[in-house]
Amino acid sequence: MPTIKEILNTMDYGPAPESTKEALAWLDQHGRRFGLFIDNAWSDAGETFATNNPADGAELAQVTQALDADVERAVAAARRAQPGWVALGGHGRAKIMYALSRLLQKHARLFAVLETLDNGKTIRETRDADLPLAARHFYHHAGWAQLQSEEFADYRAVGVVGQIVPWNFPLLMLAWKIAPALAAGNTVVFKPAEYTPLTALLFAEICQRAGVPAGVVNIVTGDGRVGEAIVNHPGIDKLAFTGSTEVGRLIRKATAGSGKKLSLELGGKSPFIVFDDADLDAAVEGLVDSIWFNQGQVCCAGSRLLVQESVYDRFIAKVKARMQNLRVGSPLDKSNDIGALVDPVQQQRIHGLVESARAEGCEVWQPNAELSTTGSWYLPTLITGASTSAAVAQAEIFGPVLVAMSFRTPAEAVQLANNTVYGLAACVWSESISLALDVVPQIKAGVVWINTANQFDAACGFGGYKESGYGREGGKEGMYEYLVPLAEDARPGAPLVVQKAQAKPAPEDSPFAVDRTAKLYIGGKQARPDGAYSRAINGADGDFLADIGEGSRKDIRNAVEAAHKAAGWSKATAHNRAQVLYYIAENLAIRADEFAQRIARQTGSKDAAREVAASIERLFYWAAWADKYDGAAHQPPMHGITVALNEPVGVIGIVCPLENPLLGFISLVAPALALGNRVVAVPSEAHPLSAIDLYQVLDTSDLPGGALNIVTGSADELARTLASHGDIDAVWRHDGSAEGCAEVERLSADSLKRTWTGGAKGRDWFDPKQACGRTVLQHASQVKNVWIPYGV
Ligand code: NAI
Repeated sequence: MPTIKEILNTMDYGPAPESTKEALAWLDQHGRRFGLFIDNAWSDAGETFATNNPADGAELAQVTQALDADVERAVAAARRAQPGWVALGGHGRAKIMYALSRLLQKHARLFAVLETLDNGKTIRETRDADLPLAARHFYHHAGWAQLQSEEFADYRAVGVVGQIVPWNFPLLMLAWKIAPALAAGNTVVFKPAEYTPLTALLFAEICQRAGVPAGVVNIVTGDGRVGEAIVNHPGIDKLAFTGSTEVGRLIRKATAGSGKKLSLELGGKSPFIVFDDADLDAAVEGLVDSIWFNQGQVCCAGSRLLVQESVYDRFIAKVKARMQNLRVGSPLDKSNDIGALVDPVQQQRIHGLVESARAEGCEVWQPNAELSTTGSWYLPTLITGASTSAAVAQAEIFGPVLVAMSFRTPAEAVQLANNTVYGLAACVWSESISLALDVVPQIKAGVVWINTANQFDAACGFGGYKESGYGREGGKEGMYEYLVPLAEDARPGAPLVVQKAQAKPAPEDSPFAVDRTAKLYIGGKQARPDGAYSRAINGADGDFLADIGEGSRKDIRNAVEAAHKAAGWSKATAHNRAQVLYYIAENLAIRADEFAQRIARQTGSKDAAREVAASIERLFYWAAWADKYDGAAHQPPMHGITVALNEPVGVIGIVCPLENPLLGFISLVAPALALGNRVVAVPSEAHPLSAIDLYQVLDTSDLPGGALNIVTGSADELARTLASHGDIDAVWRHDGSAEGCAEVERLSADSLKRTWTGGAKGRDWFDPKQACGRTVLQHASQVKNVWIPYGV
């Protein structure tokens, strides 16, 4: 007699295929050939390419490769439509967006099957995850459209938005992109990925039925060339991209200096950390969701398993047992867990990476399972024994491949978790809430799931740190990506002061000029410039005022090092940071007259006393914000909360305006410090002495050494060094140099730093609307969403 266990082991699911009838009928209705959707009309199909079913390689339809002229038409249609879309008002837009979500729900089955056919992901996922989340996104953002005039009263839509998405979540990424853009009053030119264009084309039909006005949503299909045409089109005001870090970099470079707003959601190599007190069985299920969801073709996949040494063997044994039970096969079968990879190209890429690990001596483990000989498939794979620097431990594999390592202490777990250029997501598994919440702030990632994995909701922002990109999708923070503060439109057309200082040698009759050279301020100490060069600074009347240090690449390196050492500033309490800023204000006030005289001598300003008073007020203003820029506690549709924390960006390089040497400096440096960043500041190139005069004020105000470093010299050269430095997280440039700002944006692409540049326009630093407020707070922080389910 077989035992019950033996009987269970021999039992298997029967086939449970989802019908493709409706989806194929829809394709046939279109003659399996699609044109482009521009201005609410379908163009005839032009030059086409095939989109195939990855599960069997069969062609599904021919889709048009859009040409530059098509992108031109799409942008023109979007431009024409945009004022009308705004004029419809929040409620008008909300009604249409609500209709879109209703129609998505009504046709959910058709969308789900079409997505599965085109992408290869299982019907279970398209039906239970992609579709409900896409509909939820339109519902949620219909709400933001409704509330726009109240919640975003001081903002306007950006204009025409170009949106480019990858193939891993074709419809869901469409929803993430189009819903907030439309809610805010933008019109869009949207490009789906070349492997998976079909659900976007079906969505175009839904737009017609929902009453989306002509030109508001335009869908152009094709490969990277179409993406490039959108990126480079001068009529695009904002670009939103999801895809590889490599293309993200290209887009950052291509848009440098164009003034286009940019959000990038790029790759990841996310850690999945299991502590020894975790519920191991629950963690295994979380891991299945984390790395085998969508065949691991997920930007936030938990592809690096980090397990505490004491439970490592036990956990790995459980993982292998679970892997053995994962069902790989037809994506249309409702009881399959793992479907097909999007394309044989991906299969070969994954195979290459796994084989390189094997060749390096790693153990590669796969369950026993038969794979279909047609289509592109890959078995769930576990790699052990990889070094931390191995390609499989560092590169985004984007497939069902997990790399496991062990750690001993929480500190080591954090160090391994952060040992990546990416910073998209992380999972932390522990039954100890204090341990989990201690680890979370130390992980550099935009999303952290505690005792859960791969949860998403329209109310909670999603996006990365480091080379995973910037900008957030979802939540209120996602809406700001599609809005421009009205105060930006009020900025003067040109900087108020454009002239840089004329460097001239120190007067010959001052033999001790070198000794009197004002030094740099690095690590809380005055430091001689490394190159021992100086430049003379003249007053407004042309008289020699002082020699200042000519900062160099080496000085910036030293300053960045000092800033990194001052990590304590980022961990200090907000109360503590506020106290220091108040103290700086107090000490500045004591010397207000002296500072005013110095400003007047440098700039000739008659407003110098007002500038000092405004600077003191500005310090109070940012001190006030330090302990008030709270995050949010979201209540997404799960049993738990999602806590949105505003964290510092890290080390920020700031190139200050030429004008208002004190107020401009403080207006940028103080908010960065208030929110816990450490700063390397380049003061006004024309009038640096006001910043130099601050050294003593800083020394007497309890600001820890290294939190603020000041390097004087050529703005162009120092900005270049800051922007190309590998260990700086953001660069701000506000000295009115259009070319300089473009260069900062271009150079920032290598390590995907965040940038905040003022371009050629001016800014009235006295005007709180232009110099203060939420926009500055957002530049000085990044949101980390921490998911904390209850009762698991
Ligand atoms: P990709 O980044 O090349 O493609 C994403 C989208 O960008 C597609 O719509 C594509 O047509 C478009 N595109 C390509 N070149 C462009 C250009 N120069 N300018 C503008 N748009 C351009 O990603 P791909 O080739 O599909 O996948 C390659 C690897 O990238 C994957 O193996 C994976 O590692 C990573 N990837 C990461 C994603 C994520 O969500 N983080 C998504 C897709 C891919």
